[in-house]
Amino acid sequence: MSELRQRQVPPTSSSPSSKPPKSKAPRRSSHARSSIGILDIIRVLVTLVVASCGLSYYMTGESVLWGYRPWFTRWPLLVRYIQGPLALTPAQLALYNGTDASLPIYLAVNGTIFDVSANPHVYGPGGGYSFFAGRDATRAFVTGCFQEDLTHDLTGVEEMYIPLESEEDRALGSGERKNRRAQDVRDAWAKVHRQVAHWENFFRNHKKYFEVGRVVGLEELPTEKRELCRAAAQQRPKKRQGK
Ligand code: HEM
Repeated sequence: MSELRQRQVPPTSSSPSSKPPKSKAPRRSSHARSSIGILDIIRVLVTLVVASCGLSYYMTGESVLWGYRPWFTRWPLLVRYIQGPLALTPAQLALYNGTDASLPIYLAVNGTIFDVSANPHVYGPGGGYSFFAGRDATRAFVTGCFQEDLTHDLTGVEEMYIPLESEEDRALGSGERKNRRAQDVRDAWAKVHRQVAHWENFFRNHKKYFEVGRVVGLEELPTEKRELCRAAAQQRPKKRQGK
């Protein structure tokens, strides 16, 4: 018997024909193995998502998605979307200036109304920019004159971008001077429109504000050629550059 045991040499890697010993443990089917693998992956992913949400809430103090809020999770925006755009007269718009806490805070730029209720400390009573609430003050958005220019009326505002006449201008003939002036006016209006578009886009693309409608009847309000406010007049370009 002992002689027989000695002859039974265990298979080595050098013998290619040898097969590995069969395990006696019950083997799982390939299907069971793969489903557990998927479950493991799902478990890891869920853990990562929950950890990320928790960390985001801890860091931002309000958001579980690192500040990202899809439009359909913003309740007032969703309601406005369902109800359709508003059309408010200047008098109606004035009610939304933040003094009535039951109403949202609206402001308008270039006739488009935006809901800025998300920032009551800026636009609500006592806020640094509360004078913009409840009105279309496009002119003030251009000039920066927050007392004198709280109106939509842009008449004459282009003046702030027209260079002051230089000695060189005065030496020109009247025809040439007129042409220069016409060109300056065109350039100035382009700048005004860019400035208005800048603010309109600021509110339209802001992650907390949203568009709610249009002001109606602005065109019926009287317009007048106003004096350029002092701050804007002081910003007028002094010299022509390269012209
Ligand atoms: C044409 C001139 C200007 C316009 C139209 C304007 C307009 C605005 C508006 C609409 C906001 C609110 C932004 C928001 O909703 O988050 C704002 C914020 C602010 N602006 Fe101006 N601004 C002008 C010039 C200035 C100047 C010259 C200064 C500095 C001296 C200034 C300082 C500030 C500050 C500090 C804030 C932040 C206020 C806050 O979040 O409480 N702005 N500006």
